[in-house]
Amino acid sequence: MTDGDIKTMKLYSRVDRVYAELRNAGIGDDDPVPLDVLCRFDQYHYRGTDAVEEGIARLALRPHHRVLDVGSGLGGPARYIASRAGCAVTALELQEDVHEVASRLTRRCGLAHLVRHRQGNVLDEPAEPGGFDALFAWLSFLHIPERGRLYRRCFEALRPGGAMYVEDYFERGTLTGEERDTLAVKVYSRDLPRLDDLYRDLDRAGLAEVEIEDVTESWTDHVAERARAYRAGRAREIALHGEEVFAGLDDFYSTIARLFRAGNLGGMRLVARKP
Ligand SMILES: C[S@@+](CC[C@H](N)C(=O)[O-])C[C@H]1O[C@@H](n2cnc3c(N)ncnc32)[C@H](O)[C@@H]1O
Repeated sequence: MTDGDIKTMKLYSRVDRVYAELRNAGIGDDDPVPLDVLCRFDQYHYRGTDAVEEGIARLALRPHHRVLDVGSGLGGPARYIASRAGCAVTALELQEDVHEVASRLTRRCGLAHLVRHRQGNVLDEPAEPGGFDALFAWLSFLHIPERGRLYRRCFEALRPGGAMYVEDYFERGTLTGEERDTLAVKVYSRDLPRLDDLYRDLDRAGLAEVEIEDVTESWTDHVAERARAYRAGRAREIALHGEEVFAGLDDFYSTIARLFRAGNLGGMRLVARKP
């Protein structure tokens, strides 16, 4: 996988648009950024910081826990975890431009002492094997079809007794050929697992106490509302980011809403532990 391929997903074009949002909120390019303002723009998953709160509670994070956030995007969940739970967080992100913006935002939030950004691929050898008490991944595994290796890397990153929390897509019905093509190009997502595949892959990687919850229903509502609200804000979006960004994201959000509505794409929340 290269950075270039993943850019077929429009969410990842012009990632510096977060700076335009901050300027629009009255925050200049070199100003400190209050986390509560930034949180409106830096969460690239569903249900924003509510979802992160649920993850923090589910893994019962404490300040001494060392946390790895896989596919950390702009660093939204990593900064929120550091600030709410007081943990040191390593934010691992594949894409260079996303990583750069994320690192800068963390410095501007005054959280660089707790959040360390690393650019890299989770499929590579872990830099700190056994170094983490908790691992999170919000909507990053959908980009990684090599699940055997992926879960093995998660296993290796955790200390014995450490836990992982993942929110991601799965194949709930049977995706049509057209749906598969759309996911491959517009979401950079191939070979999504069925729930049975997930249980088997996690077991093979040595992960235990697996619990998977189907959250498709609430995600279907969420992505429908996101697509509706984005289109309703067309004038604002074009004024702030331009026609091209609006058209790309409008297509992206409405595509996701359509895929969930059709019923073959599912959403799940997974917790597992390294024995
Ligand atoms: C939908 S975004 C979610 C970002 C973040 N988790 C959040 O919720 O705000 C998925 C992220 O995973 C990253 N990613 C995809 N494949 C990766 C890999 N193999 N290693 C590390 N990061 C990866 C992408 O570059 C992207 O930034």
